[in-house]
Amino acid sequence: MRLLDPLPPPAHIGRYLVERRLGQGGMADIFLCRQVGMGGFDRLVVVKQIRPELRSRDDVIHMFLDEARIAAQISHPNVVQIIEIDEADGLPYIAMEYVRGLPLSVLLEAMLRRELLPPWDLVAAIGSQVCSGLHAAHELRDSDGTLLNVVHRDISPANLLITTDGVVKIIDFGIARAKNRLARTATGHIKGRPAYLAPEMMSQGRVDRRADLFALGAVLHELMRGRALFDRHDNASTISAVMTAGVPPLSECRPDVPPQLEEIIRRALCKDPEARFQTAAEMGAALHAVAMQTGRYVSPLHIAQYLERLLPLELAALPEQHLPTTARLPLPEHRPAPSRPTLISPRPLEQTTLLRTIQDITERMAGLPRWQMPLLLALLAFASVLAAWSWLR
Ligand SMILES: Nc1ncnc2c1ncn2[C@@H]1O[C@H](COP(=O)(O)OP(=O)(O)O)[C@@H](O)[C@H]1O
Ligand SMILES: [Mg+2]
Repeated sequence: MRLLDPLPPPAHIGRYLVERRLGQGGMADIFLCRQVGMGGFDRLVVVKQIRPELRSRDDVIHMFLDEARIAAQISHPNVVQIIEIDEADGLPYIAMEYVRGLPLSVLLEAMLRRELLPPWDLVAAIGSQVCSGLHAAHELRDSDGTLLNVVHRDISPANLLITTDGVVKIIDFGIARAKNRLARTATGHIKGRPAYLAPEMMSQGRVDRRADLFALGAVLHELMRGRALFDRHDNASTISAVMTAGVPPLSECRPDVPPQLEEIIRRALCKDPEARFQTAAEMGAALHAVAMQTGRYVSPLHIAQYLERLLPLELAALPEQHLPTTARLPLPEHRPAPSRPTLISPRPLEQTTLLRTIQDITERMAGLPRWQMPLLLALLAFASVLAAWSWLR
């Protein structure tokens, strides 16, 4: 075994039976587990446990627990729900709901492989859902009503999951401060990919909720353009880009983008937090308004159908929890990828479904043996004549 190979997953963590490892971050191991109970109760959960090497890092463990406790108080459909915080074998862990879906990073990669880019109305819908989740977190208060000033600090495409029923969930919540502490070297430099960190986070100043809005602006820009806005070949260049680089106008590469959406993303990306939206609710309302003004509101159901049509293989590979109803519908035919990035809106799906239904009926009628069709029509005509005659009498 090589030195860096992860240890084989344990058979269980506390009461949770380990199915398999989902990931291994710098700070914690992530496992897909089963929680079983009385009367056949059986569900998938995700358990995130501090890595054994960090056993002696009291500062990191305290921060992990503090922040996890705060995150556990957030109850919102757009934020992953924490089930419990405990420890097993001397290592603290967080058990949370299993989110059946894909990170936005995987969604974007899969679309680019098919030479597609997300349509702008899908991007606006994703942004508006993230804003709802963020606002719930930012507004978290203690029992006295004092604001807890929660900031996620790590909003990025990998930490936003899009579920098979079209809901966007923020994950990796609340431990970002600990992770950030861990990622700082003795000289105070930040390790890792800082492409989504707000400029004020780099300069170690006070960070508030507006830092998450900057990060969300960078995510939305990336979804529209198909590549990360500030990512450069090394961390120093990336940090310098975040601090100084301008934001290229989206309309240059996406002529379809409405000016209102371009303006929202530009405003979220202002270097000065005062010039950004001041709350996630404000940004969410602006995104929702674009969708309403243009008649392009995209519901979670639309998103679910869109994903199903676009990424059937990726969705089929996910561990099953319980399949949403839409996933049981027959999948539409797969069309070959076009040669240039194409924008497909989730909205025409309704028309597609309707057309398929009409087509099905016609096909079924066309499937009748030739001699049955005239006979059927003659019978219908005869029945109508009889009905008319009895009515006239
Ligand atoms: N609750 C969850 N449900 C489903 N998948 C999850 C969940 N939490 C994490 N994951 C998967 O594990 C990956 C890493 O999890 P994350 O919490 O972001 O850890 P890290 O600290 O390593 O970034 C995610 O990108 C996602 O694919
Ligand atoms: Mg993460």
